[in-house]
Amino acid sequence: MVLNLAVMVSGRGSNLEAIAQSIVDKRLDARIKLVIINNDEAKGIDVCKKYSLNYEIIEHKNLKRQDHEAKVIEKLKSHELNLIVLAGYMRVLTKDFLNSFKLDNCDLYPVINIHPSLLPAFPGSNAYEEAFNYGVKVSGITVHLVDEKVDNGLIIDQACFYRDNNDSLDDFKAKGLKVEHELYPKVLQDINKNGIYYQHKTYYLNQYI
Ligand code: GAR
Repeated sequence: MVLNLAVMVSGRGSNLEAIAQSIVDKRLDARIKLVIINNDEAKGIDVCKKYSLNYEIIEHKNLKRQDHEAKVIEKLKSHELNLIVLAGYMRVLTKDFLNSFKLDNCDLYPVINIHPSLLPAFPGSNAYEEAFNYGVKVSGITVHLVDEKVDNGLIIDQACFYRDNNDSLDDFKAKGLKVEHELYPKVLQDINKNGIYYQHKTYYLNQYI
């Protein structure tokens, strides 16, 4: 099957690019139906242009969280989607948002996120810095389903990388980002083919949300 994705981005968009490129390379059977961007200065806009992706900028500035989410939900609902992919989307999604996209017969939301640490260590928006400053020797990347808590929810996959003694923070981030760009498309293809295993059952993302 071909997964219909919406990708949500706040900034640079390098994970969006990794996903778009993996579709071009036929490593991922998916279509990016829509990219939601919440910041009109996001570099992710250039990625959308480069790959001719359909995108919508829905600024959150000057809007109540609920009103911003209502606009995002309306846009997402105007497409036939199987999965919402957070790729550096730096806003917490409310339970109301998530409940708008609940899977039938299952208490999972078809919303997935990538986070640059081995969760549950170092949740939040500065995971690389916090892990580096803590002095970890091994760190990694987590892809997980989203729930109403920050960087929480069913872990789908993790991959690690090693820190050398002389690595700077930039070296550490560069190692992690390389892992992110390999892991996210691979996980998306894996759940496309093999579904999501949860509480002794496999759920396939074959319904529109
Ligand atoms: C990535 O490192 C991603 O893992 C992180 O934001 C960055 C976005 O980069 N996400 C989080 O920290 C989520 N808590 P990108 O815009 O280049 O993909």
